[in-house]
Amino acid sequence: MTRIPLVDLAAAHAEVAEEVEAGFKRIIADTAFIGGAEVAAFESEYAAFSGLPYAIGVANGTDALELAFKAVGVGPGTEVILPANTFIATAEAVARTGAAVVLVDCDPRTYLIDVDAALAAITPRTKAIAPVHLYGQLAPVDLIKSGLAALSRDDIVIVEDAAQSQGATRHGLGSGVDGIAATSFYPGKNLGAYGDAGAVTTAVEEWATTVRTLGSHGGLRKYHHDLVGVNSRLDGLQAVVLRAKLARLAGWNSQRRAAAARYDELLAGFEQVVRPVTLDGNVHVWHIYCVRVPNRDEVLAKLNAAGVGAAIHYPIPVHRTGAFASLGGSYPNAEASAPEILSLPIYPQITPDQQARVAEELGKALAS
Ligand SMILES: Cc1ncc(COP(=O)(O)O)c(C=O)c1O
Repeated sequence: MTRIPLVDLAAAHAEVAEEVEAGFKRIIADTAFIGGAEVAAFESEYAAFSGLPYAIGVANGTDALELAFKAVGVGPGTEVILPANTFIATAEAVARTGAAVVLVDCDPRTYLIDVDAALAAITPRTKAIAPVHLYGQLAPVDLIKSGLAALSRDDIVIVEDAAQSQGATRHGLGSGVDGIAATSFYPGKNLGAYGDAGAVTTAVEEWATTVRTLGSHGGLRKYHHDLVGVNSRLDGLQAVVLRAKLARLAGWNSQRRAAAARYDELLAGFEQVVRPVTLDGNVHVWHIYCVRVPNRDEVLAKLNAAGVGAAIHYPIPVHRTGAFASLGGSYPNAEASAPEILSLPIYPQITPDQQARVAEELGKALAS
């Protein structure tokens, strides 16, 4: 039985292996391990890819979020609104600034932040709203923005968690254009490094400078520390990988869209399966193909036993984790979806035969 992994990082590496090996040799010869020309080149290429003037490489996506929040003024005494059904890092990053985490529910069909709930949660202390572009499609940031305008709250910044959405657009625009966005290059992401890495993107020069300053021990000149910062920088070796992969990302995202369309067809006759919904105006990049099924835990166990690398993103809403249980609250859509969601294998190189086998095994798991 050949396994079908959730993501196939070896298949991605095979496409970039020569470039990566040549680049690693270059970095080692130059001993340009932190920062340097490769990092600067990647930052300008990623900014161009994002349609924004500034991209700042940092050590990981969680740091990217924290530095973005701090750069826009999130800190003690302020509040940040974010969805209850996200990876824990979104909430962690807010907590690390000293601000209060304010959770809201998600839309039951897309699992993206419920815009009305987010707008209703605004208080005089709200400094940011952090929509998460979950699974690879952009949350309706345009609607949040018009809601903020109607409330005359242009002091509230939209900080986008774009960890899962590199290359996604909504009405032709990517993330970060309405404020600031943070992304992760964790190896399994659509644009994945060979270790931890992340970036912040924005059109606002002042925020870009603050992120870069905070991430370099609070100073842009060696030994001149203007702020209390952190050490959060991108490595030269990771920049080599990211440049090689970025050159292929648009093509890989198209392959992911083709794979998602194949799953849509394969699963169309499965009455027990709720397929993913894409919002009008969105170009999805399918970081995750998430369906909803009854008896999810049994179905998952059967799929895994049959060699299908299905998984769950995410089994426990933020307010049900030990770290954030003290927030309490009730978020019915997040709570109802958590025990039913199931992520099927998806990656650019997945073949129609592999997908047919996933569908077949899913059918068997649901029937037994
Ligand atoms: C939605 C979301 N936010 C934040 C992160 C944090 O990124 P990192 O693991 O690079 O710190 C991730 C990925 O891990 C994520 O999926």
